[in-house]
Amino acid sequence: MNPFLKWAGGKRWLIPRIRNNIPTFSTYYEPFLGSGALFFLLEPKAAILADMNPDLINCYRQVKNNCPSIIKILKRIKGDKDTYYLIREKFNTERDRIKKAAYFIYINKTCWNGLYRVNKSGKFNVPIGRSSSENSRVFDADQLLKASRLLKRAKLKCCDFEEAVKDSRRRTDFIYFDPPYITTHINNGFAEYNSVLFQHSDELRLAKLAEKLARRGAKVMVSNAAHPLIKQQYDGVFFKTEIERPSLIAGDPNKRSRFTELLVTSFPINLESQGSAGNRPKHSSARESQYRPSFNPKCKR
Ligand SMILES: C[S@@+](CC[C@H](N)C(=O)[O-])C[C@H]1O[C@@H](n2cnc3c(N)ncnc32)[C@H](O)[C@@H]1O
Repeated sequence: MNPFLKWAGGKRWLIPRIRNNIPTFSTYYEPFLGSGALFFLLEPKAAILADMNPDLINCYRQVKNNCPSIIKILKRIKGDKDTYYLIREKFNTERDRIKKAAYFIYINKTCWNGLYRVNKSGKFNVPIGRSSSENSRVFDADQLLKASRLLKRAKLKCCDFEEAVKDSRRRTDFIYFDPPYITTHINNGFAEYNSVLFQHSDELRLAKLAEKLARRGAKVMVSNAAHPLIKQQYDGVFFKTEIERPSLIAGDPNKRSRFTELLVTSFPINLESQGSAGNRPKHSSARESQYRPSFNPKCKR
């Protein structure tokens, strides 16, 4: 199914190009959950889902456990401008977790580009989106109920990515890391997902962790910007594939440019047969990949 939230850096666009490359697995880990595009596509039987954003994780927990109450609240809220700013204000002060989750879904679907941004005091401050109107459809009850059923198979954690995967021990674990792209932030000025920024030291921590998990035998996939600094961090044990896509974050449509993404995997992937010609990976995984025979002897260069 499709995710019920919009999220900056969401991976819906990537899925048609990688869905045939997903390895078989028993437990799925997604430590940078956002809108959880891959989780909702895969519909795994067991999952550990995490994110540092407490409002986001509260939203998933309430959809998992109290979905009918959320639907009831959402049905009563209109999509017009005045209501948006009223609900945004209520969201920032609300203490009831179910109401807060319903308001979160509402503002996520109604605000500018689904962006989550807070000010220095932690207050959500994104303006209303251009297309919102009284008749805007902010939620789909059937979709939320389906998401609720899927989330019942998952453990939800509000924590740092290292903590999120600390129980991964099995070769049958599949771990998808989709961190904030710090190089993109430098270009477009959107540095905040939370009040705490993802730093270069976090990138290094992530690369080290991904390598440790992959060497242990887990299936690991990391997405990031195809920036020389990032590529360098994953030298050695991973396959690396570059994929071009349009960047959708810039507010001015004229500034929306093509952007090259990097997919780092502990298993070989082949995107050649998928997507239209314009969307093909810049380099085939075979050419880009670096390989150490001791790591995965079944993979060919
Ligand atoms: C690129 S988004 C993930 C998008 C997601 N794959 C999707 O399909 O929507 C990155 C997410 O990482 C979260 N995040 C930032 N720093 C984190 C950290 N240190 N540990 C865990 N999550 C973090 C952000 O809150 C954000 O939701």
